[in-house]
Amino acid sequence: MNTAVMGLQWGDEGKGKVIDYLSGRFDVVVRFQGGHNAGHTIYYRDRKVILHLIPSGIFSTDTLSVIGNNVVVNPIQLVREIREIQQLGLDPGQLVISSHAPLILPFHQELDIIFEESRYTKIGTTRRGIGPAYEDLAGRRSLFIRDLLMDKKTFSAKVIRLNTYYNQVIQGLGGDPIDPESFIDDYLAAGEFLKPYVKNTPYLLHRLAAEGKSFLFEGAQGTLLDINFGTYPFVTSSNTTVGGIFTGTGLSHKALDRVVGISKAYTTRVGSGPFPSELTGEPGDALRQAGREFGSTTGRPRRVGWLDLVALRYAVMINGVDELFLTKLDVLDDLPVIQMVTRYQTDHSTEPVFDPHMESISQVNPVMTPFDGWQQKTSDLTTYPDLPPAARRYVEFIEEYLKIPVRSISVGGARHQTIDR
Ligand code: GDP
Ligand code: IMO
Ligand code: MG
Repeated sequence: MNTAVMGLQWGDEGKGKVIDYLSGRFDVVVRFQGGHNAGHTIYYRDRKVILHLIPSGIFSTDTLSVIGNNVVVNPIQLVREIREIQQLGLDPGQLVISSHAPLILPFHQELDIIFEESRYTKIGTTRRGIGPAYEDLAGRRSLFIRDLLMDKKTFSAKVIRLNTYYNQVIQGLGGDPIDPESFIDDYLAAGEFLKPYVKNTPYLLHRLAAEGKSFLFEGAQGTLLDINFGTYPFVTSSNTTVGGIFTGTGLSHKALDRVVGISKAYTTRVGSGPFPSELTGEPGDALRQAGREFGSTTGRPRRVGWLDLVALRYAVMINGVDELFLTKLDVLDDLPVIQMVTRYQTDHSTEPVFDPHMESISQVNPVMTPFDGWQQKTSDLTTYPDLPPAARRYVEFIEEYLKIPVRSISVGGARHQTIDR
């Protein structure tokens, strides 16, 4: 069963842990969008590893890890990450990078920072150049991984042309121009390092599919950060929802059999934008501490709030989610009362509707349903009947509301802290 693992909230749902847990059952893991704005945490031999570009299947040694054609790649960052993997004693020989992945160049990062500073309402981007790199793709200006493998003269000419164009923008917005000579050699050296991993991935993936190999598609970010379906403009610049799988791999819809949605047992968000179930003040601080909610990529404190079932149902609908993987249930262990958003007061339709556009979603008044907490440690539990009755009631309410099963529950960051039903 070819399976997609999709974040259903604003990212950081625990995708890294879940993909690492599942990847041993698959022949191929593919990242299909985003870039090093992602931070996917995995525990490998008790060591915490945060992957930004390398697929989270890399620790399953018989699994091929593929960076697909719609992942925007900063090659310097990728080389750094491969070296980190090597230092852990792992052979990254099972890694493939699409020759058609667009490059993030230094002026993209500079523009990300300048655009952010010049905005009236800040998005709170990761400042990694993700948005400007995708703008280049849509603007038909991108350079690709394949360009890194060309001779210096050809690559330099392409870079200088683009750099000259962007220096006008940078200077127009009050920034300092970038000298392309300051990075061309480093990029070419990274290209030389990455060369053995670079492949024509649409053909490779189709060949593997024809051989009957199984695929796990690794989403980055989450549904509510999707460029088309998220809380625009407070979104990332790619399709974080299922459609992104096809444009980011070249495989057809026939390659997808099952969608596993991941949601925390509560909600978090890094960066600005509407967040109807947000908890501020002392209760918010307490939940942030209990969940250790600080960004894996930027270290920023994450905003926290209750589980929002109206938003989650929207994400289930957009992705065609078949089953849910509920993470971080253990973070709620000490709470006497837990709330869930089950309706928006401003919504007069018969079905609760999540309208993600800023003007609508920032107006909603969430209606909470309270649940008794279980006030018992769950992080050592291994079977569903072991969970306290109040925790099971919480889980079962979610599945009844969403009309899909909660197949697995995560009660800690390590692989073994997972309860399958
Ligand atoms: P991702 O971006 O979706 O891969 O998620 P991140 O790695 O950015 O953030 C999830 C954080 O929660 C990481 O620090 C994980 O180690 C941690 N984590 C994942 N699952 C669980 C869980 O079930 N319980 C607890 N307490 N921590 C978890
Ligand atoms: P993973 O894969 C959480 C957020 C940023 C910002 C917005 C746009 O670890 O779940 P960008 O740099 O992409 O232009 O920033 O998106 N964001 C994430 N939030 N998890 C992520 O990835 C994110 N990637 C981007 O904080 O609000
Ligand atoms: Mg993350």
